[in-house]
Amino acid sequence: MLRTHTCGELRLSDVGKEVTLSGWLQKSRDIGTIGFIDLRDRYGITQLSFDEGRNKPVFDIARTLGREYVLTITGTVIERTAKNPKITTGDIEVQVSNIEILNESKTPPFTIEEETDGGDELRMKFRYLDLRREVVRKNLELRHKVSKYTRQYLDNQNFIEVETPVLIKSTPEGARDFIVPSRLNEGEWYALPQSPQTFKQLLMVSGFDRYYQIVKCFRDEDLRADRQPEFTQIDCEMSFVEQEDILNTFEGLIKYLFKEVKGLDIPNVPRMNYDDAMRLYGCDKPDIRFDMQFVYLDEVAKGKGFGIFDTAETIIAINAKGAANYTRKQLDELTEFVKRPQIGAKGLIYCRVGDDGSLKSSVDKFYDQEALQLWATACKADKNDLILVLSGDLNSTRKQMNELRLEVGKQLGLRQPDNYKALWVTDFPLLELDEESNRWHAMHHPFTSPKPEDIALMQTDPGKIRANAYDLVINGVEIGGGSIRIHNRDLQKQMFSLLGFTDEQAQAQFGFLMNAFEYGAPPHGGLAFGFDRLCSLFGGSETIRDFIAFPKNNMGRDVMIDAPSVISDEQKKELGVQS
Ligand code: AMO
Repeated sequence: MLRTHTCGELRLSDVGKEVTLSGWLQKSRDIGTIGFIDLRDRYGITQLSFDEGRNKPVFDIARTLGREYVLTITGTVIERTAKNPKITTGDIEVQVSNIEILNESKTPPFTIEEETDGGDELRMKFRYLDLRREVVRKNLELRHKVSKYTRQYLDNQNFIEVETPVLIKSTPEGARDFIVPSRLNEGEWYALPQSPQTFKQLLMVSGFDRYYQIVKCFRDEDLRADRQPEFTQIDCEMSFVEQEDILNTFEGLIKYLFKEVKGLDIPNVPRMNYDDAMRLYGCDKPDIRFDMQFVYLDEVAKGKGFGIFDTAETIIAINAKGAANYTRKQLDELTEFVKRPQIGAKGLIYCRVGDDGSLKSSVDKFYDQEALQLWATACKADKNDLILVLSGDLNSTRKQMNELRLEVGKQLGLRQPDNYKALWVTDFPLLELDEESNRWHAMHHPFTSPKPEDIALMQTDPGKIRANAYDLVINGVEIGGGSIRIHNRDLQKQMFSLLGFTDEQAQAQFGFLMNAFEYGAPPHGGLAFGFDRLCSLFGGSETIRDFIAFPKNNMGRDVMIDAPSVISDEQKKELGVQS
């Protein structure tokens, strides 16, 4: 063994022991005839000391070493005179009697410290060095913990992990597929799975009953902080269940993870249906760490001569409690915020409630105190509150107000990452209309079951059909989603036809599933959690990249290995993709 202990292990009780440690040189300094090195491994940092008087050859070697050299040292544990309470080994140091250089290192392009001087791109290019930093390593340790406890919980509940193939045929789940040419079947292509959706359903037909898989999924979509082209799901499916059973089982998983990973007991997860989420928060993943629900002012604010409100389809207000002290500049900035092209509001109206209860709005010309009092009453506004109002067509105004609410919530410190509020959003619409093609799209995926009482609407009013579909939202992030599935061949066929597939197309794409449904498919349903998102939530970050060992950048590139990359003409020829 090149070590008797790790660099995070030695304590005062070890004083006097002869030990061998191995690791990387984090930092070195010498003060005259005494030198120090911080030796680092995965477990921590131990201070080494070198004394010219005691052991000159070792002292001389120590002075020549650079950052990130790999060393093995032997020495005696002694009590430190100047203790360092910031590290677990801060009471001791190792007086080195022998040192061996296992490997030299070039000077790294950035400092391997918590606050590194390396920019994002540089750190990603040298990700193996970035991973030496404690913060990044801790994120991966957290990830490991989340997967360990996930497996533990699901195993206890009789779920079994089954691996499904990675080279498959395209499943339409909203995003674009990554495709792979087949050399043995020239001109034909595999797709990488966007999720194992159809396979897990087939496993239910096979009688597996309770399946899970911590699995890589691939989606060729535009990237954001919470989206990677390849990401991981905790993918689950159960047979002989109803929606309620699934929500309870996976609420159990989430509670277990909070407890084991964060040491937190979270309360029962409240539920909200999709219509309420849209009405009260303007989005299907509301952040319920703070109230600030939408108030519709149509009845009290129309008909007073203010043309913008009078002609608007709707007028929506929020009450930013205690924010009447927002300055004119801050309000101008909020106005600029909602007018940004990404949000697209035309302007922002506000009304302050003074500490004497008086009301002062940006549209005083049209609204006197009495009229404004109606706003204040509707918004349950008190002294020192600030009412913010947007108007326009219903869908856009809701979207814009959602953005404004989140921004104001952030500014008022109401969105603390360590305050966790989970929510089930249920009863999603089954379909959404794609305005461009004027075609129905499955809001979740085509295998989602309509609510039985809404099936009749398939012929008459498809837009009104609600699905047995649900999302788990935590702190405004969609952590997971799933549904009860269609397990009846005819209903599945009807669904494909609603989505605009001819019988032939449906058979060509999904024949395998529909045929399987003819051999005794049990009622089933499931969901998938975004594993990376769950980890970043536990880690208090919005960026899932920080929790992935080797992530891609916003252009989907791995800048370390330089992928994607061009391939040779020979390779193309062999694959039959030469243009
Ligand atoms: P869905 O498409 O909602 O459902 O995905 C499930 C969860 O996966 C996470 N997620 C992502 N995470 C990181 N990067 C991405 N690009 C990305 N896309 C999705 C989200 C999301 O909630 N087969 C269904 C599940 C089912 O019905 O059982 C599915 O994949 O957290």
